[in-house]
Amino acid sequence: MTGTAPTEETLVPGLPPFALDTVDDTPEVVLDLGRVQRNVARAAATAAEHGVALRPHAKTHKLPPIAALQIEAGAVGIQVAKLGEAEVFAGAGIADIFVGYPLVGPRKIARLIELLETTSSRISVAADALEVVVPIARAAASAGFTVPVVIEVDTGLHRLGVQPGRPTVELASRLADLDGVDVAGVFTHEGHVYTEARSMEDKRAMTQAACAALADTAELVRASGIPLATVSVGSSGTFRFAVECPNITEIRPGTYVFNDLSQLLQGAATADDLAAFVVATVVGRPEATRAVIDAGSKVLTSDRLLIGDPGPTFGAVAGYPGAHATRLSEEHGLLEFPAPTDLRIGDRVAIVPNHICPVINLADSVSVIADGTVVERWEVSARGRVK
Ligand SMILES: Cc1ncc(COP(=O)(O)O)c(C=O)c1O
Repeated sequence: MTGTAPTEETLVPGLPPFALDTVDDTPEVVLDLGRVQRNVARAAATAAEHGVALRPHAKTHKLPPIAALQIEAGAVGIQVAKLGEAEVFAGAGIADIFVGYPLVGPRKIARLIELLETTSSRISVAADALEVVVPIARAAASAGFTVPVVIEVDTGLHRLGVQPGRPTVELASRLADLDGVDVAGVFTHEGHVYTEARSMEDKRAMTQAACAALADTAELVRASGIPLATVSVGSSGTFRFAVECPNITEIRPGTYVFNDLSQLLQGAATADDLAAFVVATVVGRPEATRAVIDAGSKVLTSDRLLIGDPGPTFGAVAGYPGAHATRLSEEHGLLEFPAPTDLRIGDRVAIVPNHICPVINLADSVSVIADGTVVERWEVSARGRVK
């Protein structure tokens, strides 16, 4: 991965590095382990080279064996979105888990305390409001825990997050007064760079602006007497720029482990970095330029591409330049080819999904390929853990 603008060549995914008939049945999500390991190693090396911690977002893979690979390669821990994912990964022995999502409601807080009582893993949580933290602090204090809280700061995505500067300092000082929690840091997800940047220069500049807003805010919080340690930014499209930013301590990319059509279009990955495919079977050939496959929205999801103008696509057909899944029903995927193709009923194709994270979430298990053949089947044990 170079961080250069996508070209015709990088945008056209070639055939995957395995024979499609090595997969037992379809539709099947297939991981190429060699490519996964290469993606994992490269991000770890980028982080290490710049003296920045790597905390991959495990929502992409939802697989404890991949979290273990990431930790082995040097990651300090993982991020998850939901407590249900934290329960799975803590159970699998991941020692440091950041729940990067506000835990709201009595049942969630009871589960957080249960998790703390049953695991030796360090569990930190996100918040951007006093109302979120007060019940956590109260429950944690009465159970004898101190929960690290990382404050979410809005650096431009305008989703969750307190505003940088004084509003964050004010929230940090209110949180610092509470027993049961410890203000451990600040974090942001600069996801707006994906949709707003028009060039690589834009991406770099917007990432640097987000990093600077976060790092300056961290300095203000420290100047107010709260010695926070973590200053964390995160996305696969921006981490290579973020590591260059002064005073950032951590990056949290997720999708980089597999990549997808979005990451190709972002110029954040090349076709060689694609490590996850959906292998599907042709079940119909209604016209010379159209085929129907056994993977519809219940496999590929209906996620659209949010960037650029690639035309209608729910995924690219690997090895067939210009061919895309252009329409999905629940169980039918309609492929369109730019010219007549000789694919026949019963043939297999590999699809590169628009957005791999929700695709993994729909699969019970994935096939793992090493040196061209299926060597293992992994249960996606954190799939569906949305509570
Ligand atoms: C809070 C947060 N951090 C990190 C990430 C990782 O981003 P990506 O999957 O683009 O690497 C996400 C993605 O949704 C996120 O929401």
